[in-house]
Amino acid sequence: MKKSLLVTGGAGYIGSHTVLDLLEQNYEVVIVDDLSNSSKKVIDTIKKISQKEDSLFFYQLDLKEYAKLEKVFEEHHFDGVIHFAGYKAVGESVMNPLMYYENNFFSTINLLKLMKKYKVFNFVFSSSATVYKNVPEMPFHEENPLGAANPYGRTKQFIEQILKDLSYSDDHWKIICLRYFNPLGADKSGDLGEDPNGVPNNLVPYIAQVAVGKLSHLNVFGTDYDTPDGTCIRDYVHVNDLAYGHRKALEFIFSQDKGLYEAINLGSGRGYSVFDILHSFEEVVGKAIPYKVTDRRPGDIARSLADISKADQLLGFKPRSDIKEMCQDTWRWQKKHPNGFSEE
Ligand code: NAD
Ligand code: WQD
Repeated sequence: MKKSLLVTGGAGYIGSHTVLDLLEQNYEVVIVDDLSNSSKKVIDTIKKISQKEDSLFFYQLDLKEYAKLEKVFEEHHFDGVIHFAGYKAVGESVMNPLMYYENNFFSTINLLKLMKKYKVFNFVFSSSATVYKNVPEMPFHEENPLGAANPYGRTKQFIEQILKDLSYSDDHWKIICLRYFNPLGADKSGDLGEDPNGVPNNLVPYIAQVAVGKLSHLNVFGTDYDTPDGTCIRDYVHVNDLAYGHRKALEFIFSQDKGLYEAINLGSGRGYSVFDILHSFEEVVGKAIPYKVTDRRPGDIARSLADISKADQLLGFKPRSDIKEMCQDTWRWQKKHPNGFSEE
């Protein structure tokens, strides 16, 4: 019989790509998403690409509404849960911390209470590289000290601690926190990709909008970092590799008899500077992308790189896409859908 999974935030950027992967692998998927940062069109697109309409269920609801969420648990028996839902913009979390603490904590607590009540103990959580304390030595290993530097990151760090406490309290729980680094790319169809609200905060969606003519130029935030070309270095990972990492995490959980708690990095294990990404994108697009050098963005660190050996050893996770493929796939999506999901 097919395994059934609850995927919260499954209409979002990483969630939707993961749902596609899970449907291809013959799971039944129930998405719960309030569409606060996504569109109903994502659900239609997943159905169209996967051709697995019968295996996909969608509930538009806010996880903070316990009674409504309980109805979903009453209607479906779940073998496991992947929890993507949450707010994720660092700057917004600094301006409005209560909104972040309320949404990310209350949603997660409701979900965990219902999982406990309905005896669903298999859980994969979207954590982030932002939980790490900034140290000069790279790469970040899972045992590195934690010390998120903003409210958004602290929601991830505290939820990891809640999950650790839960796993100590009852060894039925099998929990994996996946700490993603910088996701990029889009589905090969060009019909599913990242669709940020307003002007993008992140580098690659910004470059993509310059390339398609929606923005005039990229602002490069500082060229005076202690790196080979003076710009910051990040570990970019294809969203499809993240999707596959979630599947590997679930398979690992299903293969284990005993309770477990693990935090695992998901990245490519390779670092690229802002200029590396810009030039790679220019190569894919076939034209120069205008940019201006500006001051550093407050809070940015010079380097962020993942040690991905634990993901390999425990999950058999090996990233498959290089930076060119990540830029090609982003560009295919951006070119085909310059206004994201709001155009059609
Ligand atoms: P996203 O915003 O595209 O997806 C999150 C989804 O959750 C959205 O569809 C939104 O509508 C939904 N949502 C938010 N609050 C909800 C609530 N209370 N009830 C129901 N649905 C709700 O974000 P993403 O980039 O796909 O990120 C997914 C997860 O991964 C998030 O938890 C994010 O913090 C984490 N993460 C993202 C990145 C990144 O750079 N994108 C990096 C590390 C970790
Ligand atoms: C990458 C590099 C910028 C925009 C963020 C979150 C993090 C995680 C992933 C969720 C940096 C430079 C950027 C621009 C630029 N999300 N840049 N011009 O900051 O590594 O991580 O997304 O967990 O929490 O903080 O990613 O894409 O914003 O920046 O020069 O217009 O590009 O300075 O060096 P970041 P990013």
